Amino acid sequence: MYALIRKALFSLDAETAHELTINLLGKIGRSPAKCLLEKYLQTTGTPKKCMGITFKNPIGLAAGADKNAEAIDGFGALGFGFIEVGTVTPLPQPGNPKPRQFRLISAEGIINRNGFNNEGVDKVIENIKKARYDGTLGINIGKNTFTPVEKGKEDYLLCLEKVYPYADYITVNISSPNSPGLRQLQYGELLEDLLSGIKAKQQQLSTQQQKYVPIALKIAPDLSEAELVAIADSLKRHHFDGVIATNTTLSRDNVSGLPNAEQQGGLSGKPLQQRSTQIIARLYQELKGDIPIIGSGGIDSVADAQQKIAAGAELLQLYSGLIYHGPKLVQELVRCIK
Ligand SMILES: Cc1cc2nc3c(=O)[nH]c(=O)nc-3n(C[C@H](O)[C@H](O)[C@H](O)COP(=O)(O)O)c2cc1C
Repeated sequence: MYALIRKALFSLDAETAHELTINLLGKIGRSPAKCLLEKYLQTTGTPKKCMGITFKNPIGLAAGADKNAEAIDGFGALGFGFIEVGTVTPLPQPGNPKPRQFRLISAEGIINRNGFNNEGVDKVIENIKKARYDGTLGINIGKNTFTPVEKGKEDYLLCLEKVYPYADYITVNISSPNSPGLRQLQYGELLEDLLSGIKAKQQQLSTQQQKYVPIALKIAPDLSEAELVAIADSLKRHHFDGVIATNTTLSRDNVSGLPNAEQQGGLSGKPLQQRSTQIIARLYQELKGDIPIIGSGGIDSVADAQQKIAAGAELLQLYSGLIYHGPKLVQELVRCIK
């Protein structure tokens, strides 16, 4: 069945296909078809405790698929134990000029240079309030492109404060390759300043609102060994609640020569699979289970998901695998991954 849907979607430009899917899942989520779909798929899985939250299963939808929180209930009906919306920025922004998403079909990869196109934090919160999803909701926050990187912290703190009452967990995204300068926040003084500011704000909000919302940092797969160790060290020092490894890669190692491989942007999907698993394994050596790792990058089968769990991930997220393999992949993962 998905083979036919995929054929139709792949006849369209990647972003148009994505918009159609979001539209359809949004409509399903608001209609009685949602219950029918849930009954038909019958996917529940094994609950997993992580970051102080009981996830109904360890399989999540990665950020970027539902940037504006328009289809939470539709994605929920596919069986995901958690859904991460965003990246959301303080103000709405259009992102980079189109076309900005490209399929590398033979490699099962995607390159995107969207550049945080989103409707802004206020609109996203409005959408979240309408959702009825009973799984765990993560909200991924970023900075506006026009905000200089030295002032980026202010954007993160503003988003953090606004989304705090509506999130089960919050992800601080400093690893998108498509927002100029953003990845500088992964290093040195800028990282220290950002993490300490975020933790201070979390403490203040948790006291005020009598609710502790865990915060995870999302990192790139393109970090050197020394950079990865430095980030792990900062995460421990600042008592971060989780880390998502990884975002998309700038490397083209596994795809050189393929159509679209030279497009600028972050590469996701199967070509990222091994690299993200290596990062998870190295990170786990440093964190030793004290800070949970959420694994993301090229998950396209139960076997790969198991490798990421064996490398040290406690929860998993996917996006590109859903595009190439459809909802059946979510069902298989939910059924098999504990
Ligand atoms: C089209 C597209 C848009 C994305 N947008 C975001 C985003 O806004 N924020 C973010 O943290 N990650 C974003 N990602 C990265 C994914 O969340 C994920 O970390 C990455 O794609 C690796 O997982 P995958 O191989 O299963 O897709 C995006 C990925 C794709 C393919």
